[in-house]
Order: sequence, then C-alpha cells, then structure tokens
Amino acid sequence: MSRVKVAVLISGGGTNLQSLIDSSEKGYFSSEIKLVISNRPDAYGLTRAKNHHIKTAVLDRATYPEGKDRDLKLLEMLQQEEIDLVVLAGYLAIIPQKIIEKYRNRIINIHPSLLPSFGGKGFYGRKVHEEVIKRGVKITGATVHFVNEETDGGPIIFQEAVKVDFDDTVDTIQEKVLAIEHQLLPRAVKLYEEGLLVVIDDRVKI
Ligand code: GRF
Repeated sequence: MSRVKVAVLISGGGTNLQSLIDSSEKGYFSSEIKLVISNRPDAYGLTRAKNHHIKTAVLDRATYPEGKDRDLKLLEMLQQEEIDLVVLAGYLAIIPQKIIEKYRNRIINIHPSLLPSFGGKGFYGRKVHEEVIKRGVKITGATVHFVNEETDGGPIIFQEAVKVDFDDTVDTIQEKVLAIEHQLLPRAVKLYEEGLLVVIDDRVKI
C-alpha cells in the first residue's frame, strides 16, 4: 500500500511539526510528510522543515492578498502533492469551506484545551491558557479533532488532561500541555494511516 501523504500547516514555532518529523524519522508511523505550509514567512517551523529536507511553501497576505485566490492556491498546493491528510499544527488561519468539503474527515487539528471548553473564536495560542487560569479550572489538556465547519467543533479523536496547579502560569501550563500534544498528534497520524479512525454521527470510533 502506498504511504499516506501528509501536509502540515503551521503559523509559528512548530514544536508539534517537530514531533511529527521525529516520529516519522523514528518509524513510529509510515506516512510521509510531503509539504509544510505556513501563512507566516517568518515561522520557525519552516526552518525545521527545511532542516529535514521537507518541501515548504508560504501562503501569506503579502503574496496572496485576495481571500479567494489564497484559498485556491492552498487547494492547488494540496492537490499538486496529492495530499491525503492535512494536519493543522498551530495554524492560525481559517480553512476555506471548499477545502473542508474536499478533505472531509481528512483534516486534523490540535487544540491546547479540553474541548469544548476554551475553544472556538478567539481561543488560540496563549489566550487559551490565560483563560484557563482566569477561570480557575483544575484540569486542562489537549484535544486532537477532525476539522469541520465549526471552529474547534469537529469530531474529537483524542483528549488528554493535565492538572492545573494554583501557581501555574501561562508558560508552565503551555509547557505541560505541549508535552501532551507532542504525543497525541503523531498518534493520530498513526491511527489515521491504519484506518482506525472512523467517524460515526460526528463521533470518532477508534
Ligand atoms: C499548540 O499549542 C497548538 O495546540 C496550538 O498552537 C500551538 C502551536 O505550537 N494550535 P507549535 O507551533 O507546534 O509549537
């Protein structure tokens, strides 16, 4: 059987991308990371990809100011590389409807909270952890889910919790949650390629 071809979309540091690259190199999964796309030209994740000889592309506002053109370009890039699975690893941009439809249950996102808590519009990056502290919840965590039309609302694949201590800061929570993210995301790719993620009525059966 041919290897699953993966595109990873990023906007920043790309530690989740790195966990995927490391897992791939260790042979944890057999999928091939064929393409890394960033919507920011200065995202450090691009350097991580280049260090491992993975093809990269930048799709930013400066190059593609028109929403529609940018959306089409993204789709074109995915199709050109015959991408099977799209992984959003800290990608801070909206995925166009057309791509959601074409890649139904083939786009995976990682979110740094236990969805549906602390998810949806405005909940991204450090903001999530700031709200976790403000609200005083005792546990938070990470969620891996398929992407649908609702922001952070798609079928949940995995979740894992971490404890929030009173003295935790955004940085310490982020560190704890990222450690979990780095395990969950490669695991999701592995199960995907094995055909073990089955979506039934918006829930994922593993
Ligand atoms: C992660 O916390 C991820 O859950 C969120 O953005 C962050 C990206 O981190 N969507 P990195 O770029 O993978 O280091």
